[in-house]
Amino acid sequence: MGTLLKLTMVGVLLAVLGERLVQFIHRANFFREIDPVDLPNCQLLKGIEYGSEDIEILPNGLALISSGLKYPGLMQFAPERHGEIFLLDLNDEKIHPFSLRISKGFDLSTFNPHGMSTYIDEKDDSVYLFVVNHPHYKSTVELFKFAEEENVLVHLKTIKHSALYNVNDIVAVGPESFYATNDHYFTDFIMRFFEMFFGLKWTNVVYYSPGAVRQVATGFHSANGIAMSNDQRYIYVADVTGHTVNIFEKRDDWSLIPVKVVQLETLLDNLFVDPLTGDIWTGAHPNGLKLLSYNTENLPGSEVIRIQNIHSDNPVVTTVYANNGSVLQASSCAAVYDNKLLVGTVFHKALYCQL
Ligand SMILES: *[C@@H]1O[C@H](CO)[C@@H](O)[C@H](O)[C@H]1NC(C)=O
Repeated sequence: MGTLLKLTMVGVLLAVLGERLVQFIHRANFFREIDPVDLPNCQLLKGIEYGSEDIEILPNGLALISSGLKYPGLMQFAPERHGEIFLLDLNDEKIHPFSLRISKGFDLSTFNPHGMSTYIDEKDDSVYLFVVNHPHYKSTVELFKFAEEENVLVHLKTIKHSALYNVNDIVAVGPESFYATNDHYFTDFIMRFFEMFFGLKWTNVVYYSPGAVRQVATGFHSANGIAMSNDQRYIYVADVTGHTVNIFEKRDDWSLIPVKVVQLETLLDNLFVDPLTGDIWTGAHPNGLKLLSYNTENLPGSEVIRIQNIHSDNPVVTTVYANNGSVLQASSCAAVYDNKLLVGTVFHKALYCQL
């Protein structure tokens, strides 16, 4: 090969890598700094020190909080501890979460809970809790029945499927069926990093029911939080590094039709739909570099975003809370009940605020 040709090829390669790097730095918000937004009546939840990655709130005000996520590339303060699900009664004067007992027979030692979703059976008001689990960094979905009187999670089954390769979050749509955000190919950090670096849109949404599993949406940089509208017509999908909320209409055959995309600035994580207003709440990562390279001198911060009127032509996006990590690090979810706000984090504490 001629020298000129070699030089040209190296030049082209460097140009491509440079362009990818610039795009990646932009998508991961490497240089973004935020101004603080304080809320006056907040307290950290006692007993939650190792994450509160996802929060579900039942119609009666009981909050379920997944804690202890170990995720490749992200900080863990207690890697030897197994995960837990906390319960917090938001009607109580005393804001005091406690770890729920899990029925015998379930392997707690490898419990690594991530996204969650609840499903209430209209026939008998039974509450089912779906939990994305990463035992040995693989992906399963654990189905529990929440026995409220005894404060116990009864493990019903472990769902595994090759299409559920690396699951992040789920939204239940039936007693045994759900939509899940998922990475097609990779579980380990290096490959996930390259996938994000090159801007490959290889994450998807999978519909699961015992009789049928299929991909129903794809083309996300990094599909993460997923939730359903209160009228059950729409599915909302957060694309973290795309900085978008993607709205889909749900068809009777469970396929998803793209409706619209709402662009944000931040790295939004899980989604929560206010059961009264339909507003969408998310816990977000202001800066991806601080999240990925944990440093006590330069902590990953937290940001809570509310989106009102998302279906209108002019959705209203508000930063309800923002902190540089001095109080709360790596927020991943925000959920509301009766003017109370809970903010969860990937590996840090959890915050309770009176709005
Ligand atoms: C973080 O915010 C707190 C409170 O707003 C402030 O006192 C502190 O100096 C900030 N830290 C950094 C590193 O900016």
